[in-house]
Amino acid sequence: MFRNMLCLALGLIVGMQLTELWDYMTLTGEEYESTVVAVDTDASRTRPSPADWLFHEARVLCLVLTMPAHHKTKAAKVLSTWGSRCNKLIFMSSEDDDALGAVNLNVSESRDNLYSKVRAGFAYAYEHFVEDYDWFLKADDDTYVIMENLRMFLYPFDPEAAVFFGYRFRTSYPHGYMSGGAGYVLSRDALRRLNLFALNNTKFCPLNTYSEDRQIGYCLLNVGVTAGDSRDEHGRERFLPLHPRHLMPSIQNGTWLTTYSYFTPNMSDCCAETAISFHYTKMHDYDRYEFFLYHLRALGLPEKPTVLPTKLTSEQMEQKLEFWNQQVTDQTVPLS
Ligand SMILES: *[C@@H]1O[C@H](CO)[C@@H](O)[C@H](O)[C@H]1NC(C)=O
Ligand SMILES: *[C@@H]1O[C@H](CO)[C@@H](O)[C@H](O)[C@H]1NC(C)=O
Ligand SMILES: *[C@@H]1O[C@H](CO)[C@@H](O)[C@H](O)[C@H]1NC(C)=O
Ligand SMILES: *[C@@H]1O[C@H](CO)[C@@H](O)[C@H](O)[C@H]1NC(C)=O
Repeated sequence: MFRNMLCLALGLIVGMQLTELWDYMTLTGEEYESTVVAVDTDASRTRPSPADWLFHEARVLCLVLTMPAHHKTKAAKVLSTWGSRCNKLIFMSSEDDDALGAVNLNVSESRDNLYSKVRAGFAYAYEHFVEDYDWFLKADDDTYVIMENLRMFLYPFDPEAAVFFGYRFRTSYPHGYMSGGAGYVLSRDALRRLNLFALNNTKFCPLNTYSEDRQIGYCLLNVGVTAGDSRDEHGRERFLPLHPRHLMPSIQNGTWLTTYSYFTPNMSDCCAETAISFHYTKMHDYDRYEFFLYHLRALGLPEKPTVLPTKLTSEQMEQKLEFWNQQVTDQTVPLS
């Protein structure tokens, strides 16, 4: 008898919580935005966090470039840290590994073949998953990605627009390309264009042994994909192609980063507070990032409410693409 009552009570409580959860899951972006500003109300304790909500709003498939020799080291660390926050995680490798989620892309391991491997990875993602996700991130196994910030950044943009984001270099082509180590992210339409019109056309997308980021960037620009600007309102970068120790307290003037960057970096204030990625992650770094980002709290600080950015209308999105297409490098230092 008592047990039955308990079950009934528990059932009711769970039912009520689920109803509330469902209400929040079905809110539109703007409704959610207006409810999310107040921090500590009864509702704020039962509804999903902005990060949980964005998980379903900006769905990201992560393609992580690795190799069998890294399956048990860097790739395993990616899986146990940031990779588990992807909506779908695929390791691009030359050996299948079900425990890891690694796919043998039938490209033999060699530095010269990284571009071929990434092409095969994008082809695989397109063939099996293009309609299931909104954004397609390519990262290395020594990239560390803050997935919540990636989703927050992508949320305003339409994945049906042809655009890609990352840390933009100005070398090789007038338009430059996005750094592979910092990771770069393609919209669904960018992935579609890459596969339908670039990968099968050696004029737009030649096969060679150059670096994958440079080549994929070239292929994308040849099929009308816009290189987006992912810096924050103070011109600080979100995708960072270096380890924080090389960015803070300040970027060294005259290094390759300052020369290669499409946009002159802010030397004293490198990185957005909403930074998305860092590169050159060492084995001991993955768990440190986890600790500092997800566990450590400075006690007593006022809690900042999360304000979601507004989703752009199709007209605003068009204007953004137009603006980005016309952006030119602001560098004055000559490329030697
Ligand atoms: C790699 O080759 C094997 C054997 O031919 C095939 O079964 C598998 O589907 C291929 N993998 C990819 C990703 O194409
Ligand atoms: C590549 O595929 C697309 C779509 O199927 C087709 O329209 C195009 O002609 C192909 N390009 C080449 C060079 O075969
Ligand atoms: C960096 O070096 C370049 C060339 O040496 C110089 O023109 C520029 O003013 C320097 N920038 C900073 C922030 O020191
Ligand atoms: C660099 O960042 C600092 C601090 O945020 C800011 O005051 C300064 O205006 C920025 N410099 C440039 C060139 O954007």
